[in-house]
Amino acid sequence: MKDLKEQTAFVTGGASGIGLATARALARRGARLILADIVADKVEAAAAELRAAGTDAIGLTLNVAEEAEWARAGDEAQAFGEVSVLISNAGVGGGSGAFETYDPEVWRWAYAVNAHAHLYACRTFLGAMKASGRPGHLTLTSSMVAIVPPPISVAYISSKFATLGIAMALRNELADTRVGISVLCPGMSATNIVATTATLRPGATEQGEAAQTAQNMSGVLVGGMSPDRIGERVVRAIEASEFFIFTHPEWKGMAEAQFAEMLAAFGESADPSYKGDDIAGLIAANGAQRMNIAVG
Ligand SMILES: NC(=O)c1ccc[n+]([C@@H]2O[C@H](COP(=O)([O-])OP(=O)(O)OC[C@H]3O[C@@H](n4cnc5c(N)ncnc54)[C@H](O)[C@@H]3O)[C@@H](O)[C@H]2O)c1
Repeated sequence: MKDLKEQTAFVTGGASGIGLATARALARRGARLILADIVADKVEAAAAELRAAGTDAIGLTLNVAEEAEWARAGDEAQAFGEVSVLISNAGVGGGSGAFETYDPEVWRWAYAVNAHAHLYACRTFLGAMKASGRPGHLTLTSSMVAIVPPPISVAYISSKFATLGIAMALRNELADTRVGISVLCPGMSATNIVATTATLRPGATEQGEAAQTAQNMSGVLVGGMSPDRIGERVVRAIEASEFFIFTHPEWKGMAEAQFAEMLAAFGESADPSYKGDDIAGLIAANGAQRMNIAVG
């Protein structure tokens, strides 16, 4: 999507961190901004900041995890302008501690915010974006942890794998439309995510080792990349129609090792007499024409 001037962008998690930075970068291109966030005063302040800099912008209070709230957000957005850029970015940490000790309520919350919300966002805007026939773009925020999982929260990592999976699957579906798609996989960034997570998480406040881990994570992320650099990179990827947005090349060696292990695990067929899967038939059975990588 080469020209973002006068385009209307909807950014979830737009009150802080990478979402706000992406909004600022879009504003620098002359886009109009709808910031959506669960924290009402922060989203209003962020929209006011953009307006003060000359951008046409509004803030909406929205809990992305609550499907019912999306209808109102969709109506308010529609009244502002026809959304052609959708940045589904809101996210939270998944909590800390050993997997078997997770609170199921925190688990469901992390999945609802980090993964399920992409469906609600797309149900609200993607149909109209496709039907308009005009160029549009969808960006989902995953994480580098979905490419190379470090020993951190299983809930966070797996929900970010879900986002990567949604993006990779949707990419096929959007291939013959004018809506481009990107998946953002950043490494560490100096944002408010640890504090946001502690404030928004359901259930009891984390105690003991889990609380210590969260505090340690806060200390590590302070030294992370500036979200403003990431936001600018996201917008360049939208302009250049890039699917994968990797901002932290220091992870590449680990990604190579990760994929080398996977590739090495492809051995003999479990049934040497089997003719092999009919991938073209699989594609046709789903009414599709092709997929993004060459078959066979
Ligand atoms: N910071 C990092 O190191 C890092 C690394 C990789 C990926 N990410 C991802 O980047 C995205 C943005 O996070 P960030 O680091 O900028 O954190 P952040 O906390 O600064 O910003 C996230 C924003 O999302 C909002 N939010 C949280 N839950 C919400 C909900 N239910 N409904 C609406 N808004 C909600 C928060 O209020 C906050 O304003 C997340 O998806 C995160 O997982 C962050």
